[in-house]
Amino acid sequence: MRYEERMKQRLEALRARGKARILAIESSCDETAAAVVEDGRVMRSNAISSQIALHALYGGVVPEIASRMHVEAVDPMIEQALSQAQMGFDDIDAIAVTYGPGLVGALLTGVASAKALAYALDKPLIPVNHIEGHVSANYIAHPDLEPPMVCLVASGGHSHLVRVDHYGEYTLLGQTMDDAAGEAFDKVARVLDIPYPGGPLLDKLAEEGDDHAYRFPKVTTEGKYDFSFSGLKTAVINQAHKLRQQGHKINAQDFAASFRRAVVDVLAGKAVAAAQESGCGNLALAGGVAANRLLRREIQRRGEAAGLKVFMPPAILCTDNAAMIASAAFYRMMRGELAGLDLNAQPSLRLIEG
Ligand code: KG4
Ligand code: ZN
Repeated sequence: MRYEERMKQRLEALRARGKARILAIESSCDETAAAVVEDGRVMRSNAISSQIALHALYGGVVPEIASRMHVEAVDPMIEQALSQAQMGFDDIDAIAVTYGPGLVGALLTGVASAKALAYALDKPLIPVNHIEGHVSANYIAHPDLEPPMVCLVASGGHSHLVRVDHYGEYTLLGQTMDDAAGEAFDKVARVLDIPYPGGPLLDKLAEEGDDHAYRFPKVTTEGKYDFSFSGLKTAVINQAHKLRQQGHKINAQDFAASFRRAVVDVLAGKAVAAAQESGCGNLALAGGVAANRLLRREIQRRGEAAGLKVFMPPAILCTDNAAMIASAAFYRMMRGELAGLDLNAQPSLRLIEG
């Protein structure tokens, strides 16, 4: 029997059992990660090798360097994930991998490794969308959380507001018309001389600042739940240049706090309104920007005031990791989804077609 035929049978057996230990690989951007998660919920290991320090030298992710670093790090991360989980390959039921969206060369490293492992070990291969992975980090952090829920996914590459109708089924409520929220954080951080990726450091700086000190324009969008950060970003950067030209010294803490407030007010306001309107009662947060302290506080405060149950993963599961990919893979597996050995990277993969 061919590999593909055997795996269909194996997948059916796993679905019937409703249990699986999944080893996942994530390499879509600048983190090489591998993790083992049981039944989509129980994290046995979460190995992450970050390339951030290297890319910081260039002020952003250099795709060619990212691909090379993934090649070097992927095997050690898989070994680390297994040893942390105190498991061998025999204990694993299926292999999962992020196949998009992301940088093509970076994705290909993970996809090639996962295919080689799946074939050599004779295990099913499950393809995972990176954004769905971010959403699924909530299933690990909150074992009782089940769809439906509204989820705000804000990262360096994406800003989406989605309704999760069932596992693996999404309705798009809104998205960014231009820059992602994380991208705006990183670009504004640059004018404050904060090294890449500026989001986490800008957030830290903002904790000490006065968020009323500088005034930035309010952002409007046509779609009720859409976002736009490009205009705000440009206005903020222009204001910094203008102030400096006029000989004023910028108070970095106040500037960071005022900008962070402007972004968080939009994200939290729309996320809470969308969750209220959806009537499902659950609001979850995901993606690298979900690590932002003010966003976490505001979502908690406004969400609870609106009578919603609020969920958010710990910061380590908000930024890129493979545990979230293994969790998403479990639910994909339960839906009968399987990749063949012809699986390819899809840099522009979408969460919702249309
Ligand atoms: O999800 P992620 O690790 O990678 C992508 O899929 O893009 O998100 C990385 C993004 C970066 O733009 C980073 O600056 C931002 O998330 N980020 C933050 C914080 N931590 C990470 N932005 C604001 N505040 C933070 N604490
Ligand atoms: Zn991500």
